[in-house]
Amino acid sequence: MSAKVDLSCEVCGVELANPTILASGFLGVTASTLKRAVELGAGAVTIKSIGLERREGHKEPVVCEVQSGLLNCVGLSTQGQEAFDELKVALKEIDAPVIASFYGKTTEDYGEIARRLEEIKPSLIEANISCPNVKDEFGLPFGAKADAASQVVKEIKGNSKIPLFVKLTPNVPDIKSIAKAVAEAGADGITAINSVGPGMKINVESAKPILSNNSGGLSGPAIKPIAIRCVYDIFDVVDVPIIGTGGITTGLDAAEMLMAGATAVGVGTVLMYRGLDSFKLITEELSSFMDENGYSKVKDLVGIAHG
Ligand code: DHB
Repeated sequence: MSAKVDLSCEVCGVELANPTILASGFLGVTASTLKRAVELGAGAVTIKSIGLERREGHKEPVVCEVQSGLLNCVGLSTQGQEAFDELKVALKEIDAPVIASFYGKTTEDYGEIARRLEEIKPSLIEANISCPNVKDEFGLPFGAKADAASQVVKEIKGNSKIPLFVKLTPNVPDIKSIAKAVAEAGADGITAINSVGPGMKINVESAKPILSNNSGGLSGPAIKPIAIRCVYDIFDVVDVPIIGTGGITTGLDAAEMLMAGATAVGVGTVLMYRGLDSFKLITEELSSFMDENGYSKVKDLVGIAHG
């Protein structure tokens, strides 16, 4: 890594050694796997979305590989109280920011979880209002409508002072209006994007969809152009930091995401493609790119693709 390049960055007053953040849902169910992600080079880590009560999620198979991506229909599985306990352990043992992702079935659930998180004190909290896999049970995601999204934000902000990121779905006609609404309601940052779709893969031998829930959210390189466009659009309409997530696989992808307007980048599905070295590879590649192109700090890249 170049001595001239400083990869550290800051998100809502929280310092990261580098801008890669383990995205929610990968390696993120236990304190020990979150810790491992930091040892492997993540600048921060996000726990798999926590809910109020234990949920099994959908039955197997919940993941399948597609061209340039991954479909998953995990179904918001969570351990309930045990997940909050795991978060406490993670905060004690991990020497890097830990982000608490969480979801609710109702607006009040988000408030109740925010109240509990306020006592546990993760570095940042991230409201998942955009899971594509539970429509049958939960109805349309809160992130699909500006007024529902802003109600959730107000409920959370009434119960917690921890900086709040809101994870948006790209599966809407106008993500700018949702981003504006959540920022106006008090969100301290936006995470964009959650998985796309849902999508489907059919096994032609059995003539049946592969996933147990038939369809699942699409992640990985296939969605990167959508993620870049969403972050670019959101950057134009809000003043809060953005965690840019979706298909980041190389250091150049990370640079592109920062240029679109992200302050830091979420990393997840790449772990399937490049393995456990993904964080190191991405940060080394980003560092070389910055060095070769005369950028000394991460923030020198943020938003520079805008006129
Ligand atoms: C799940 C949640 C998500 O937010 C997502 O993008 C994909 C899957 C889930 O737990 O089903």
